[in-house]
Amino acid sequence: MTDGTIAVVGTGLIGASWAAYYLARGFRVVASDPAPGAQQALRERIDGFWPTLETLGLDEGASRDRLEFAPSIADAARGADFVQENGPERLDVKRSILAEIEQGVGEDVLIATSSSGLLVSEAQKGMRHPERLVLGHPFNPPHLIPLVEVLGGEQTSSENVERALAFYAGIGKKPIRINREVPGHVANRLQDALWREMFHLVRTGVASVADIDTAISYGPGLRWALMGPFLTMHAGGGDGGISHFLEHLGPAMRDWARDLGEYPETDEYVSTMAEGVEDELAGHDWAAALAARDRLLLGLLAAKAEAPEIP
Ligand SMILES: NC(=O)c1ccc[n+]([C@@H]2O[C@H](COP(=O)([O-])OP(=O)(O)OC[C@H]3O[C@@H](n4cnc5c(N)ncnc54)[C@H](O)[C@@H]3O)[C@@H](O)[C@H]2O)c1
Repeated sequence: MTDGTIAVVGTGLIGASWAAYYLARGFRVVASDPAPGAQQALRERIDGFWPTLETLGLDEGASRDRLEFAPSIADAARGADFVQENGPERLDVKRSILAEIEQGVGEDVLIATSSSGLLVSEAQKGMRHPERLVLGHPFNPPHLIPLVEVLGGEQTSSENVERALAFYAGIGKKPIRINREVPGHVANRLQDALWREMFHLVRTGVASVADIDTAISYGPGLRWALMGPFLTMHAGGGDGGISHFLEHLGPAMRDWARDLGEYPETDEYVSTMAEGVEDELAGHDWAAALAARDRLLLGLLAAKAEAPEIP
């Protein structure tokens, strides 16, 4: 049984998944969410995630019985050793949630916000102890995807950023440190670069939605799940590694980069992409496809754990 209590504040899609993950690691979890029926919805979501977490492996003493639901955010935070905040993505709401957390929590307890895009520097303004607010940005669903993006705002102490990195690494996550705040953090910006170009390629008739999905999921995407794009590039350079790759292909890639598209300025692209997805899914059961994806993901995570040779 893990010694420690996690406060999970906000138990929607992301909070519920975090709560399930922390329970699976053996923590006691005290959750809070003001929505009517939130406790029931949380318990149902956790029940839904639990078989997958059992397949992944539960830590000693892990139990859904170690979940408690508190009547207020301050109550949830009282006595917590770590707080994971997952409220609505609005600065004013985040600030008021952080103020409520601080009413209950001990003064040197780390508070991590799951925020997808708000700046920690903005969120921490007005906090009593802003030095302990960090970003702990997960990828959906946090109980399955290991990545957590960590950074501190202007007032966060570097010691607390280190503490957050060590905490997430210690519970089986793959945290990365972001050195400077930028909108969208790192992984979503990388996705955005790809999204921008795939919309451009569809809109200009270069390839269909289905063929672009095939291009990634049967091409570079297969490699990216195993090794990041830098190491993939290093492998592509043969004996000369990334230096040879960039010296050899860099000039051509620079030309391609000049020709990349812009993000669509209006929403007229939405229906084109939706029609493309509908065509791609014709004859397929979407629910079954999603279930198969999760099953394959579990296999992939297990396979990756067997290959420590790869960074
Ligand atoms: N959805 C994603 O893919 C994703 C991925 C990573 C991070 N995030 C981030 O996680 C956070 C939560 O997103 P979500 O997708 O779970 O949203 P959600 O709408 O599913 O959940 C938000 C929850 O906050 C609750 N809430 C509302 N007011 C509150 C308050 N004052 N105090 C506490 N809880 C309150 C709501 O009742 C709801 O249950 C956001 O900051 C979002 O940016 C989302």
